[in-house]
Amino acid sequence: MKAIGIVAAMHGEIAGLVHEMGTDVQVHRIGQRDYYMGTLHGRSCVVVLTRIGKVAAAATTVTLIREFNVGEIVFTGLAGAVAPGVRVGDVVVAHSLLQHDIDASPLFPQYEVPLLGCSRFPADAALSARLMQCARDYLEHDFYRQVPAQQRSTLGVHTPALHQGLIISGDQFVDCPQEVQRLRDALPDALCVEMEGAAVAQICHEYGVPFAVMRTISDSADDTACVDFSAFLEQVARVYAHGILRRFLLGIPSADANGHPAVSRTAHR
Ligand code: ADE
Repeated sequence: MKAIGIVAAMHGEIAGLVHEMGTDVQVHRIGQRDYYMGTLHGRSCVVVLTRIGKVAAAATTVTLIREFNVGEIVFTGLAGAVAPGVRVGDVVVAHSLLQHDIDASPLFPQYEVPLLGCSRFPADAALSARLMQCARDYLEHDFYRQVPAQQRSTLGVHTPALHQGLIISGDQFVDCPQEVQRLRDALPDALCVEMEGAAVAQICHEYGVPFAVMRTISDSADDTACVDFSAFLEQVARVYAHGILRRFLLGIPSADANGHPAVSRTAHR
């Protein structure tokens, strides 16, 4: 069975995952990145930091596929909210991903990746459905135990919701209201914005590798929600990513108290 590539965009997420892999980990340094090969919750995994931006994420993904022959890729990280109903502390699982800053017009339509004839890269439906289920179960069953009330209140995370839909990526950190409005007008179904996901999606599409992307909302991308970024990463996003990945890798069956599969709280398509 091929290993799973676990890609994370933030150092804090990687450090915890590598710690959980225990002592039996091989580290391969390629192109200034450390690829950690080992076992996480009983599954063979290669864990790596994408670094920031689309070029860095694409390079990391190519190496994961070509050097480590991973069979599937799961990508976690942070994002800024774009859709009005998406709030700090919510989780977004990608249905598809798009590069909001690619524009080779008039040669190609805006957002289309030249020569691929495609602007929206769909995430793998089965992997994404599993990730959705694990995120839903995590938020319903584990979150309130793992993140104490005091921390939730300090960071303004009260009842996190789960969404599925379009994630957009570009080589800018978006933090002004005008830019968020421009993105909403141009791409009305975009749920959140980050800097790597669509690059990972493009590479996976080119190599035919199934992938899923999950983002925790850390800010409102319009400079109004002032969150202590490192505290948020350490106390919320890292905890979510670990908890959700743990369920994902262990394949914990999901059911509500009556034994029925839980249903989505919010699903944007
Ligand atoms: N990652 C987390 N928040 C972001 C934002 N506002 N813009 C781009 N990438 C992000």
